Amino acid sequence: MASSTLPLFPKLLQNETADVCVVGSGIAGLTTAYLLARDGYSVIVLDDGPLVSGETERTTAHLTHALDSRFFELERLHGEKGARIAAESHSAAIEKIEEIVKRENIGCDYQRLDGYLFCPPGESTQILEREMAAAHRAGLDAVEMVSRAPVGSFDTGPALRFPRQAQFHPLKYLAALTIAFQRQGGRIFTNTHVTGVEGGEPARVETKGGYVVNAKALVMATNTPVNDRLIIHTKQAAYRTYVIGATVPAGSVPKGLYWDTADPYHYVRVQPLDRGDVLIIGGEDHKTGQANDADARYLRLEQWARARFPMIEAIPHRWSGQVMEPVDGLAFIGRNPMDQENVYLITGHSGNGMTYGTLAGMLISDLIAGRENRWAALYDPTRKTLGAAKEFAAQNLNVAARYLENVTGGIPQDPSTLLPGTGAVIRRGLKKAAVYRDDAGELHEFSAVCPHLSCLLSWNAAEKSWDCPCHGSRFDRHGHVLNGPAISDLED
Ligand SMILES: Cc1cc2nc3c(=O)[nH]c(=O)nc-3n(C[C@H](O)[C@H](O)[C@H](O)COP(=O)(O)OP(=O)(O)OC[C@H]3O[C@@H](n4cnc5c(N)ncnc54)[C@H](O)[C@@H]3O)c2cc1C
Ligand code: FES
Repeated sequence: MASSTLPLFPKLLQNETADVCVVGSGIAGLTTAYLLARDGYSVIVLDDGPLVSGETERTTAHLTHALDSRFFELERLHGEKGARIAAESHSAAIEKIEEIVKRENIGCDYQRLDGYLFCPPGESTQILEREMAAAHRAGLDAVEMVSRAPVGSFDTGPALRFPRQAQFHPLKYLAALTIAFQRQGGRIFTNTHVTGVEGGEPARVETKGGYVVNAKALVMATNTPVNDRLIIHTKQAAYRTYVIGATVPAGSVPKGLYWDTADPYHYVRVQPLDRGDVLIIGGEDHKTGQANDADARYLRLEQWARARFPMIEAIPHRWSGQVMEPVDGLAFIGRNPMDQENVYLITGHSGNGMTYGTLAGMLISDLIAGRENRWAALYDPTRKTLGAAKEFAAQNLNVAARYLENVTGGIPQDPSTLLPGTGAVIRRGLKKAAVYRDDAGELHEFSAVCPHLSCLLSWNAAEKSWDCPCHGSRFDRHGHVLNGPAISDLED
């Protein structure tokens, strides 16, 4: 999403105490913090970047209960009741955003609109019939089959219409939410990297500057948990996803949320701007650290978009981001497994993190306040989903294969051959070095071993980052950690 004016906050420069410390200032962290502050708790939010500098900054902001995981799959994995709760909780999240927008009088282009799911050309549309039946059983009675989505420029073929979905400008929304949070006494510290957390009484959050926040409860809203070393990371996988933003004449593409059933799928919506509209098109996902061909992916996205939307004038925007895919199709929201009772986490929201982040705020604030929440069991991070054994095994076999790279990976390249602005993992006997040559020609060298659980990193030429193929940690070209689960920088 295009940048918007977000408030600036100081670094943590002394020890602090609060009822709740929330780590992460994306939609999940800020919504949780805001709702807790509304309940009367004193809350501190910490973030290692500026406000909203994680994946929420990169989102395409479809607000939908038409989840990435098909309802018939959710039924298989979590039963009819689980699928119903998933539908109900995401619908409630959209309602909650709407309630907050009205209550805080937020101008964030929020609007209700319909979503359409359709098949790629030539593919059987049986999947739509199956999904419609499962969506009805999940309580989404208004979902219906239409002969095509209302896009004039191409025929989608039969489509499932999900009425009353929504879209908004997430940065405008969160800027206002932050101000409301502060008005309720909430405190925010940015550029404050959390280096360790410990549950207990009090729970402690340690930061790089040496200062500590003591709190009665901790919420880790870091997109992927940086406190859980292993358990959750065996149950989800990190994917890169790619987006282009195309200018189109105002009104030339009807407002709506559009998704196909391809794997990986395409996702499209229209963002109105002052002059014309921007058509936001995403897709081309791959496992983090397991492909380094972003230019080809952007090109395929562009070709896909131009073939369907000939009114595209120019494509001035492109970006990528990271989503966490749970093996059993649902996010993990609740108490951190095998930890103290007062440590909570929010992760695994696939491409539905706007609604997951919001429902997580509702769920976690209930858990902290000791209120009953009927969604808690479904999203419990300790759950074991028997039906997902195959997906679990596939994910962990994929990780195991990546460990082999520690022996075989890297190229026996002479770093002097590296061009400015490029990087490579270079083999030196049994050791592997992550070597980057900056634009001025200087070499920067680090260990190519991920500090999380020792997988071999890969170079990501598009983002100029070192990406871990095992659980998705990422590091900038200078070795600073960008995405967890790693909590520390690369070793020199
Ligand atoms: C390209 C793209 C398109 C998407 N489209 C959609 C969509 O249309 N609809 C939808 O619902 N979802 C979408 N998603 C998913 C959604 O954007 C994310 O799931 C959601 O933004 C995650 O929010 P979060 O608050 O959990 O994490 P983030 O926004 O990533 O926030 C986590 C924060 O934690 C901080 N942090 C991490 N580690 C530390 C540490 N050690 N110390 C201190 N702070 C730390 C980070 O700096 C960051 O600010 C999309 C995602 C991407 C990448
Ligand atoms: S993220 Fe787990 S080993 Fe790198």
